Amino acid sequence: MTTLFTHIGLLAGTRDAQELLRGHQLAQLPSMEDAYLLVEDEQIADYGFMYELPLKIPQLPKNTIDLQGRFVLPCWCDSHTHLVFAGSRENEFIYKLQGLSYAEIAAKGGGILNSAKKLNETSEEELLQQSETRLQQLSELGTGAIEIKSGYGLSVESELKMLRVIKQLKQRSKLSIKASFLGAHTYPEIFKNDHAGYIKMIIEEMLPVIAAEKLADYIDVFCETGFFSPAETEQLCKAGAAYGLRPKLHVNQLNSIGGIQTGIAANALSLDHLETLTAEEIQLLGKFDGCSTLLPTAAFFLRMAYQPARALIDANAAVVLASDYNPGSSPSGNMNLVNAISCIQMKMFPEEVINASTLNGAYAMDLQNEVGSITNGKNANLIITKPIPSLAYLFYSFGLIHIEKVMIRGNWV
Ligand code: NIG
Ligand code: FE
Repeated sequence: MTTLFTHIGLLAGTRDAQELLRGHQLAQLPSMEDAYLLVEDEQIADYGFMYELPLKIPQLPKNTIDLQGRFVLPCWCDSHTHLVFAGSRENEFIYKLQGLSYAEIAAKGGGILNSAKKLNETSEEELLQQSETRLQQLSELGTGAIEIKSGYGLSVESELKMLRVIKQLKQRSKLSIKASFLGAHTYPEIFKNDHAGYIKMIIEEMLPVIAAEKLADYIDVFCETGFFSPAETEQLCKAGAAYGLRPKLHVNQLNSIGGIQTGIAANALSLDHLETLTAEEIQLLGKFDGCSTLLPTAAFFLRMAYQPARALIDANAAVVLASDYNPGSSPSGNMNLVNAISCIQMKMFPEEVINASTLNGAYAMDLQNEVGSITNGKNANLIITKPIPSLAYLFYSFGLIHIEKVMIRGNWV
């Protein structure tokens, strides 16, 4: 199947090179005004300026679509989500509005353990169905590649259930999907006073099965006060590395306890959250080879200070934006909102947020050769906008839907 798009007002993110963008490189978004784009089957086959079209494609294919000035962007690459979860937790949201603290909500059975309880009671089929519905919603909002974590199972059986659901999503979906094993999300009730026992179970009982069934691409740990210490994080990263799982870690969400230093030493692909950073840590991230992934909707929902995006960019960090879609701290996986908040609250520029949410997001999932920019041979993952006056308008006019159509691997969503 061949589709030709003509009269594209702006074709954004036309980039052949697949390098991770750092610091001020993020402000460069190669684009073409008045362009065409050719899709053959699942891939981008050609693109260029309209004036080149008669020479490049003299015979227009039957399926030629005149976009009349609409913009085309590569689909969002959301490199940090917890999309597989059971039910929802809006009762905790109401508690929070009533003024209850995190600890009080936890005492009422809230938090990660609440999601774990719900997930335990939900069958694999039901979990798959709920997750597939969410994935469909996100694809309509322009997400074409996604990372999904386990971490609401917290037992051998339920962690495997979550990862098997992700594996089924991989097989059934047109989106590119990566799985991260987050057994170390919190301690289940029965290991409340035996942290070493739970870590032993992760290493000796979960990891070998996950590796044998190829259920994960990465390992994740919630490195935080009251959760997993830097030493425990290091131990878990080493255990994951023995099975070829590179770390993508939750660090510095609430406290700066050494997660960044641990992650860098463990050759992490990405260090995520980063709400709480010291000046030295910002400099460390500037020199870190991997990705610094910011999750502004989690800061928004928890009413925390936003991540210091500008300071990170000035320090030359490879900033990535992701949704953290989960039932507790970011019950939205809308990357358009992530991007608008990043502009409005973190003072990132439209070009920077698009790079951070596309090519850099792809990089944070090792998918940079497949998705994240407009180039020949990459997946035809395209956002077609409604008529809009400029790129900036997408984020300035926040909360409204500016997407008209989404194509993922050459198929309309
Ligand atoms: O990434 N911080 C750790 N985990 C999730 C939230 C977990 C939850 O409340 O369900 C996050 O924000
Ligand atoms: Fe998260």
